[in-house]
Amino acid sequence: MTKEEEFIKYTNPYKKYGEKIDLKIHHTFRVQKLCIEIAKSQNLSNEDIELASTCGLLHDIGRFEQWKRYKSYNDLISLDHGDLGVDILKENNFINKFTNSNKDTILRAVKYHNKYKVPNTLSKRNIYFTNITRDADKIDILYLFVTGGLVTKTENTKMTNKIFKSVLNKQLIRKKDAKTKADEIAIRLGFVFDLNFKKSYEIIKEKDYINKMLKIQIEEAENKELINQLNELQVFINKYIEEMIKC
Ligand SMILES: [Fe+2]
Repeated sequence: MTKEEEFIKYTNPYKKYGEKIDLKIHHTFRVQKLCIEIAKSQNLSNEDIELASTCGLLHDIGRFEQWKRYKSYNDLISLDHGDLGVDILKENNFINKFTNSNKDTILRAVKYHNKYKVPNTLSKRNIYFTNITRDADKIDILYLFVTGGLVTKTENTKMTNKIFKSVLNKQLIRKKDAKTKADEIAIRLGFVFDLNFKKSYEIIKEKDYINKMLKIQIEEAENKELINQLNELQVFINKYIEEMIKC
């Protein structure tokens, strides 16, 4: 059985818990493809491209059990799905169904793909593959925003000054620091400052994710201050993406 078939076999029994399970299955395969795309752009060996692919395939393996237990994908009110993924892969050596090598690197990528920061105590190689996984995951979150898979309504709020300034200072913001619905959008936009590979910026530019996402928000916004904030961020982020592609 291929690792993809193993993944489908594992997730099939969870489908009875509703269509939210399908969302994560589709997300997983898109992230896997993105991991491969980034890995190829880095001229990695076939073995390492395969490793990046496995990291993408398994990064959200904890999501299915999380939904079954909590009917929520919100880690803040349930549990850390990266940590849960590691437990699932370790239980009865489940990870062996997906790979015979680089298990430690895969487990680290699963554990740290959703953390605020990647610990610098990890080996360079483990950080590298964790970063591929994190970039791919973030790119797909932007995809979900522009395709309606993730809808965030600003509910007539604006970004709080602290959050707005943090984005302009290229600081990554913690989810729990969001005070308004508009702040949540600012946090998503701030993702672009936490990407690690030139290819990631090229994909975002090519797919025009930032402009598409902001267009939706600006069209729907009623709060004038929010419209100004979104316009300012649009210029700022586009410029940043251009700089990252050039360097
Ligand atoms: Fe995740």
